[in-house]
Amino acid sequence: MNKKYRKTVIAGNWKMNKTPSETKEFMNQLKAILPKGRWCDVALCVPAVCIPAAVRAMRETRVGIGAENCNANASGAYTGEIATNMLTDAGCKYVIIGHSERRAMGETDADVNAKVLAALEAGLVPIMCCGESLEQREADITEEWISMQIKLGLAGVPEDKVRKVVIAYEPIWAIGTGRTATPEQAEEVCNSIRAVVRKLYSSKNARAISILYGGSMNEKNAFELLAQPDIDGGLIGGASLVPEKFVQIIEAANQPTV
Ligand code: PGA
Repeated sequence: MNKKYRKTVIAGNWKMNKTPSETKEFMNQLKAILPKGRWCDVALCVPAVCIPAAVRAMRETRVGIGAENCNANASGAYTGEIATNMLTDAGCKYVIIGHSERRAMGETDADVNAKVLAALEAGLVPIMCCGESLEQREADITEEWISMQIKLGLAGVPEDKVRKVVIAYEPIWAIGTGRTATPEQAEEVCNSIRAVVRKLYSSKNARAISILYGGSMNEKNAFELLAQPDIDGGLIGGASLVPEKFVQIIEAANQPTV
């Protein structure tokens, strides 16, 4: 499987961290140390209220701004929710969908699927998350579980749009715990996700779709994880809150591909 057919994506997930003022400060610090020349796609997904400050600060750069969630409906009586066209109008390019922290708040595979379809319709890049719990890993059902999440999440996504979806594999036991999956564990699941896409769509689409790893990825372990043949980038929580660390991960992603 050759990585030249797909994009490497380094995406930050700020979760519920940083105010709009802190966002401006962070983006200015990041801009000053971003690597020059050609590099991978970089996204920063930030709290909704921080989107305008982030978009404004990164306008002249190649860093795309994203949201951490969206609503699948176009408009209407959904107090507190944000529609995909509001995100694109605010300057977003990406949206994280189905993060395990949101699934833990009740988001279902059907919700994730509806949001993926809405995001694609709006022209956003959905970063669709999947991942198993420690209990599921220990019960040896990781592959079946992830395969089900992918199939349900991608239901109804047409053949010509599936490669726009970025899939993020995030084992729940590795998120925010400092306990990273080994490169072999992460590769094994990312490889099986690509096989699911191949079965659902085609080899061409499987070769073109970007699959990220997330879960305690940092400036120290990024290089080894990103060197795996089926890991096309990272979804980074904690380490995306510190400009220097985030830049080091971008640099790790700029290694020669296999
Ligand atoms: P972490 O978070 O890097 O802090 O483990 C990753 C994520 O939840 O996307």
